[in-house]
Amino acid sequence: MISTLLSRLPHGSDGDPATPRLAFGADYNPEQWPREVWEEDIRLMRRAGVNIVSVAIFSWARIQPARDRWDFGWLDEVMDLLHAGGIGVDLATATASPPPWLTTAHPEILPVTAAGETVWPGARQHWRPTSPVFREHALRLVTEMARRYADHPALVAWHVSNELGCHNVYDYSDDAARAFRGWLRARYETLDALNHAWGTAFWSQRYSDWEQILPPRLAASHPNPTQQLDFKRFSSDALKEYLRAERDVLREITPGVPVTTNFMVMGETKGMNYPDWADEIDFVSNDHYVHPGPQDRDELSFSANLTSGIAGGRPWFLMEHSTSAVNWQPVNVAKRPGDLARDSLLHVAHGADAVCFFQWRQSAAGAEKYHSAMVPHAGADSEVFRAVTELGATLRALAPVAGSEREPAPVAIVYDWESWWASEQDSHPSSRLNYRQEALDWYSALLALGIRADVVTTRADLGAYRLVIAPVLHVVPGPLAKELTRYVETGGHLVTTYFSGVVDENDHIWLGGYPGALRELLGIRIEEFGPLLADDTVELDGVGFGFGDAGGPATGTLWTDRITVTEPDVDTLAHYRTGAYAGRPAVTRRPVGQGSAAYVSTRLGADGLARLLPDLLAAADVHSDLPAEARGRVETAARRDADGRYLFLVNRTDEQVSLSGVAGEPLAGGTLAADGSLTLRPREVAVVRQPAS
Ligand code: GAL
Repeated sequence: MISTLLSRLPHGSDGDPATPRLAFGADYNPEQWPREVWEEDIRLMRRAGVNIVSVAIFSWARIQPARDRWDFGWLDEVMDLLHAGGIGVDLATATASPPPWLTTAHPEILPVTAAGETVWPGARQHWRPTSPVFREHALRLVTEMARRYADHPALVAWHVSNELGCHNVYDYSDDAARAFRGWLRARYETLDALNHAWGTAFWSQRYSDWEQILPPRLAASHPNPTQQLDFKRFSSDALKEYLRAERDVLREITPGVPVTTNFMVMGETKGMNYPDWADEIDFVSNDHYVHPGPQDRDELSFSANLTSGIAGGRPWFLMEHSTSAVNWQPVNVAKRPGDLARDSLLHVAHGADAVCFFQWRQSAAGAEKYHSAMVPHAGADSEVFRAVTELGATLRALAPVAGSEREPAPVAIVYDWESWWASEQDSHPSSRLNYRQEALDWYSALLALGIRADVVTTRADLGAYRLVIAPVLHVVPGPLAKELTRYVETGGHLVTTYFSGVVDENDHIWLGGYPGALRELLGIRIEEFGPLLADDTVELDGVGFGFGDAGGPATGTLWTDRITVTEPDVDTLAHYRTGAYAGRPAVTRRPVGQGSAAYVSTRLGADGLARLLPDLLAAADVHSDLPAEARGRVETAARRDADGRYLFLVNRTDEQVSLSGVAGEPLAGGTLAADGSLTLRPREVAVVRQPAS
């Protein structure tokens, strides 16, 4: 539990460990700096209100300069200094990047690409997740770290490795091949079962011995799709297994210290099935970096929201984000005034009980020297450091929020790793399909309408939501189809889209017409997909975008379906006006008891969806909790505890926004007048306490 970590933090001014507080800090890499800088660091951390730092993430070469030489002296001193400064340490196990002596002695730990190239040392994370040699050395280091610092008063949590899988999730080495075979034996038990699941009757792929099976290495044409999907599952599991191995050492030696590892719920990072990892650690941590673009803050909100979903609605830890630019995008855009605070507080709005950055002090050398930090190259006399210090004060004001959980929204967007993996594989109707983009478009459309939505995984209790949107739910095993049917039959409103329900867990087609597993529930049948070329569009006419509407017809891209309605009670909400399927249904909805099941067969984008959604929302009796003037301009999120709720109001725009009807006690941000009118400066976030009545 993150509350264990928070209670281990050095106590606030009242000295009471029970007083809640949010964690605030950064990755701290003192080994990059001479000793005299460390004391200034601690002085500045105190000035900024920092109460936690993550230390030793990339320190392996410094801690263990040779196989049997250990140098903990410098780290002891750092830990002591931090403790004396009232700063807790989220201590890394230091295994993220193996030192040169290890890779020289054991080049067999280096990962191998699908084409058989060795991934050489020189950057970081050059290790095979399945290498027994790497594991032996890494766990030895973890053991030494845990023994050395078990009783150090600065230690508040363990940080396993760093961003597991960031660069090494897919390894095609012989170690990986061996482990993959073991994983497949456990999954299928018999070769017959594997041959069936992989559909090896195709292209003469039948296996007669386990030893013949390989990872999907560079092949003459499309490798077997189920082999690819299983390799994705296996690769995520292999890292999860490694995480467990480190965690078990830590739990054994320091049973009371919570263990985490930093996830990367952001953008296109999809190799690690985090919903499946979440149970392995004591609290969920996430790293997030903004990718500048038209939906950049929607994406931030979406990722934070999904992280909350992965954490089961409980508080989580924002382990890294940036004060300003990063160094690894094609163009690294600096943040504007207000972005630093808004980005941080958006994470808090969606359940973060910690706001940490990469990194404390901007490096003078190395590949990340142009990456922003809390203390930039310019030093503490800088706008960034002033903004950091202001944020520290805001987080102190928000201390009561710590420990509160997510208040469920009326709408859920289902985000499913298996569908993400499978829907974007090769040899499909379209290589242009982007799973995450479709989900994000729905989220953006809901934000534009001022509707709160939770991003959830397939493990969530869908019955808690009035409207469930499951975009591109491509992989639908039988039990999931049953669960969705039950959800609708008991009054839920389900919306799904193109390329949903098409395959089972083995990536085999549900026969008889698409959308396969959901065909009967939706009351439609599709004989053929109609994907669109890059420049191709179709017009749609119907609910939300008829000719009578100001916006005129809507535009679909990417995909169309040749739909036949099979049940008399299906309503066609929109039909195609142009294209190969002109006159046929494009958006359908079937009422089922008090619930309904709707299907959207093309990509409408956030704008098009924002025109369709009012009808879908009305059917589910979902309404915005914002006054009309604020819808689309303000994002709301809510956290709750036993005594009430914390309402976060986030100005999504670059202008001042005023809205009426805000009740409660202001905790931070905005100007709340006695009559309930709230004014938010550009990009400002207000937090209001609303006691339970
Ligand atoms: C993360 C990583 C950090 C740092 C940061 C830069 O992927 O965990 O060590 O590299 O990105 O944005």
